[in-house]
Formats: sequence, structure tokens, C-alpha cells
Amino acid sequence: MKLHEVKVLGRERFGDHALLRYRWSGVAHEPGQFVMVRALSSPTLDPFLSRPLFVHDYDGEVVSLLFEVRGRGTARLAREDAGLLVSTPLGRGFVFDGKEPVALVGGGVWVSPLKFLSRALNTSGIAHDIYLEVPATASTAYADWLSKSYPHAVLIPTDGSLNSPKTVLSHLGDFSRYAAICASGPSEMLARVKEVSTVPAQLALRERMACANGSCYGCAVPLWREGARIYTRACIEGPVFGAEEVVDVQKSGD
Ligand SMILES: Cc1cc2nc3c(=O)[nH]c(=O)nc-3n(C[C@H](O)[C@H](O)[C@H](O)COP(=O)(O)OP(=O)(O)OC[C@H]3O[C@@H](n4cnc5c(N)ncnc54)[C@H](O)[C@@H]3O)c2cc1C
Ligand code: FES
Repeated sequence: MKLHEVKVLGRERFGDHALLRYRWSGVAHEPGQFVMVRALSSPTLDPFLSRPLFVHDYDGEVVSLLFEVRGRGTARLAREDAGLLVSTPLGRGFVFDGKEPVALVGGGVWVSPLKFLSRALNTSGIAHDIYLEVPATASTAYADWLSKSYPHAVLIPTDGSLNSPKTVLSHLGDFSRYAAICASGPSEMLARVKEVSTVPAQLALRERMACANGSCYGCAVPLWREGARIYTRACIEGPVFGAEEVVDVQKSGD
């Protein structure tokens, strides 16, 4: 996979989360797509694999990535002052048929792609509401940043327990008032949307990825297609899938 060196415009830190902005003049991004990214200044190529991150926002010139610092790869991305290596936008994101209104539902760091999605819906004049879970485990710095960054969202504090998705989804009221639901949250939240949504829903999955070019099959997800259970590669055909075709939402280390 070809990685492009990009000019970093800024890095911000809020608690365990970081936001990174870079200039991008290549092919346009779509909401729900992701990039493979690594720090340019990693002299030992450690970690060896680039990391997948959703496109948090894109205005035609500047891309931003929002991520939780978890291990070596994300720590380097958050820390280094040097440049970045990023792939072109990858995968398939959210799709729209113009029907409105749309509900955007997210939680934890997985709210990331909803910012760009909201921007795209605004550009297309599609009415939408945003519901974001703020779990008790989130740092104050990240919770403050969320409320500033998503000023029109309904922020829903939860205790972070397994009941949290139920609490979040109760804020939507009757699902049938929405034409569609787009969800990007912890696996329990995605599973709950799949289980209870009475309108078409799209889920942003994030299976572990290695090559992200379709050759390793490490990201295979089971889907229902034409009555048969098949496996497909999340890095090529996803990471966003229709909830009805996802067999089950697998736990992926939230
Ligand atoms: C399509 C896609 C989009 C993603 N977008 C984002 C994003 O916008 N923001 C963000 O913070 N993270 C995102 N992730 C997860 C991110 O890629 C991992 O957190 C990152 O690769 C961890 O790398 P590391 O070297 O810091 O940690 P590692 O040392 O590789 O792992 C540290 C911890 O992170 C967990 N982890 C690794 N990969 C995943 C994963 N795919 N899902 C859940 N847990 C994982 C591991 O279980 C481990 O506990 C995305 C993943 C995918 C597949
Ligand atoms: S990550 Fe290798 S096929 Fe998807």
C-alpha cells in the first residue's frame, strides 16, 4: 500500500485522546472511510503495521483524525512532531438515498466518523440529529472537547455499563420518525442498534486490520447475502455495513 507523506497542521491532546490535522490534496474522502496511518519518524519501523483510523473530518483541504492513545502505534502518532504517512481514503462509508431525517448515534472514541458524516449531510441539506454517549470512564478533558466539537448533539452521560446502549437509544424515542440510523459506537451499542432498529441502519465496524488492501483476509466479517452466510473483507467492502446483513457484531476490544 502506498503511503503519502503529509504536512501536519496540528496535534491536540485531551486526556487519552488526540486529534491530528493534516493537509490533503489527493482524492476526496467520503464519510465512514478510513485511512492507514503511521508516524514518519519511526526509525525502526516499530510498530511495523500502519494503523487504521476513521476520517474524523474533511473539508476538501484538511483531514482530521481523532483517536484514543492505546498502544505503541497511536502513542507515536500523538507524540511525534515529525510528519505523517497516510494512505488514500479506504473502504466504503455511509450511503444515502436522500431520505430524511437521519439519526447519527455514537459513543466513546467511535464517534469519530460522525463529525464528517454530519458535515456531508449538512452540505446535502439532509436533516439529522446526533446522539452521543459520554461514558463515565471518559476523561473530563475529552467530555469537554466532545461538547465543544459537536455543539448540536444530544450528549448522553452513562455509567458505561452494558445497559448504556439502551439508555442512549431511549433518547431517540420512536425510531420510525427517522428514515435511517447511522451508528458508530462500542460493539454493544452497534449490536443494540441492529437488534432494535425498526428503520434501515448502517453500522461502522472496525474489525482488526493488517494489510487493508484485501490480501490477508484478517478483517473478514460474516454477512447474510441473498439468504446465504458469506464472509467479506471489512477493509474493501466495509467498514460500514447495513445492520440487516451483519450476522452479529463481534466484540473488538472496545
Ligand atoms: C476501520 C477502523 C477504524 C478505526 N478508527 C478509529 C478511530 O477513528 N479512532 C480510534 O481511536 N481508533 C480507531 N480504530 C482502532 C485503532 O485502529 C486501534 O486502536 C489502533 O490500531 C491501536 O494501535 P496501537 O498500536 O496504538 O495499539 P495496539 O498495541 O495495537 O493495541 C492496543 C489496544 O487496542 C486494541 N485494539 C487494536 N485494534 C483495535 C480495533 N480495531 N478495535 C478495537 N480495539 C482495538 C487492542 O485490543 C489493544 O488492547 C479503528 C480501527 C479500524 C479497523
Ligand atoms: S485487512 Fe487484510 S484483507 Fe482486510
